[in-house]
Amino acid sequence: MTMISSNFDVPEAQSATDHSDKTATVFPYVEDESSKSLHHLQSKDFSVDWSHRLSDPMLDAFANQGWIVLDDIFAATALLALQAESGFIHYRDAQLTLGERISHIRGDKIRWINQDFLAGFYYLQSINELASVLNRNLFTGIRHSEAHYACYPIGFGYQWHSDNPVGRDERVISAVFYLNDDWTADDGGALEIVDHDGVHHTVMPVANRLIIFASDLQHQVQLAHRKRYSIATWMRRDSLVPFIGDSNY
Ligand code: OGA
Ligand code: MN
Repeated sequence: MTMISSNFDVPEAQSATDHSDKTATVFPYVEDESSKSLHHLQSKDFSVDWSHRLSDPMLDAFANQGWIVLDDIFAATALLALQAESGFIHYRDAQLTLGERISHIRGDKIRWINQDFLAGFYYLQSINELASVLNRNLFTGIRHSEAHYACYPIGFGYQWHSDNPVGRDERVISAVFYLNDDWTADDGGALEIVDHDGVHHTVMPVANRLIIFASDLQHQVQLAHRKRYSIATWMRRDSLVPFIGDSNY
């Protein structure tokens, strides 16, 4: 059988050019009538019952310590669509606030999500629903969200920072959704974060996990030993600027 894989961690030399499996079945291989109909991705594939997921103890923890982690966010269809989209897009170097790139401080490559994306755009819609639940419960005053796919090449991370540059406060809540299957501690790339009580935490970037934290908390991404894919997301208090894509911090 031909293996159809996303390009996570495919060794460079044997990616698309490996034709050694001459007896491979031609794809698509249709077995019966029912498997002929393709599933068309829809916004409801990304629906999450956020008010149910955000229990009162979790909301309390978020209000007090400033961060929470939620696992198993999306159903398989949505997760796979996000993994596929993140694996095949063209990434650009991320920059620091002043527009310079210093890869030993920030080594990720990014792509801002806009209407041209399918899975990413549905993801952002779901985040907007999360934002309205947070607004209702915690009066966070979020007015819009922005997000970019991020890919940390091997050997790169993102040193200690907060998500608002000095003198700015538009970003209220940050959220990072992780995309790599089977991430282990040996793969590096953990997120370290210091909460409102000054307690230091380490979070593994495992697929289908969303960490939500106050944007002013200090955090860093440890060096990745494997290509690391995620969606960095910000819920903002300023009004909607349609698909900015150039807020490079
Ligand atoms: C960021 C960031 C954390 C992560 O992009 O600003 O801090 O775990 N990302 O990817
Ligand atoms: Mn950050």
